[in-house]
Amino acid sequence: MANFSGLHILFFSFIIATGALSVVSGTVFTIVNRCNFPVWPGILTGDNGVQLNGGGFALNTGASVDVAAPAGWSGRIWGRTGCNFDAFGTGSCLTGNCGNKVQCSGAGGAPPATLAEFTIGHGGAMDFYDVSLVDGYNVQMEIKTQGGSGDCQNVGCISDLNKICPNELSVHNGGSVVACKSACEAFGSPQYCCTGAFNKPETCPPTDYSRIFKTACPKAYSYAYDDATSTFTCANANYSIIFCPTI
Ligand SMILES: *[C@@H]1O[C@H](CO)[C@@H](O)[C@H](O)[C@H]1NC(C)=O
Repeated sequence: MANFSGLHILFFSFIIATGALSVVSGTVFTIVNRCNFPVWPGILTGDNGVQLNGGGFALNTGASVDVAAPAGWSGRIWGRTGCNFDAFGTGSCLTGNCGNKVQCSGAGGAPPATLAEFTIGHGGAMDFYDVSLVDGYNVQMEIKTQGGSGDCQNVGCISDLNKICPNELSVHNGGSVVACKSACEAFGSPQYCCTGAFNKPETCPPTDYSRIFKTACPKAYSYAYDDATSTFTCANANYSIIFCPTI
């Protein structure tokens, strides 16, 4: 017991001495489900960092969960739909599936899936964020900034692209469209994937397919070189990530 208390004192002295307490107040992501169906958010930390909340959980209609991210955090958040998990958290999802567990634990989501992408700044530096349809679309999503300074726009894809998805890009389940592939994923050609001779902005302009995404969701990435109108910045903010924001 004496040793245990000693360790505590040592630990707190360390925190005070290094100012490490300030690290605890990073960025808060409030993940909200306004869809009239459950969503299983997936969270993937880049660069082999710590997986927030184990990388995934269930979120019923109307529920919200706060996820704390440390300064410098970089990663993506998406929604999985049509999931079936047993009491051990084992199962799978129709869209955004990340393996066979409710916690993605470092696995990415299978496209097509709408992605919220973040790079959080260190010590008051700008955060970079966007909603990306480069890997396709599965669910309506909005990023709303809370507080912070700078341009701090609310962005996302709040149209239901499943309703206007061209047949050749549609992912069906039963009678309904549950996701919409990117043209790159559907056809794999360099022109749509911006690879090979098309690997720079000058040689990879928007296509008829990417324009469908851009028209419906002007503040989301519609294809790989859509940076100018799709990346946003804000400093010292928290963020809400809302599934089905208009419902
Ligand atoms: C972010 O959320 C935390 C925890 O609720 C809060 O302490 C902090 O003031 C918030 N920051 C902003 C910019 O709203």
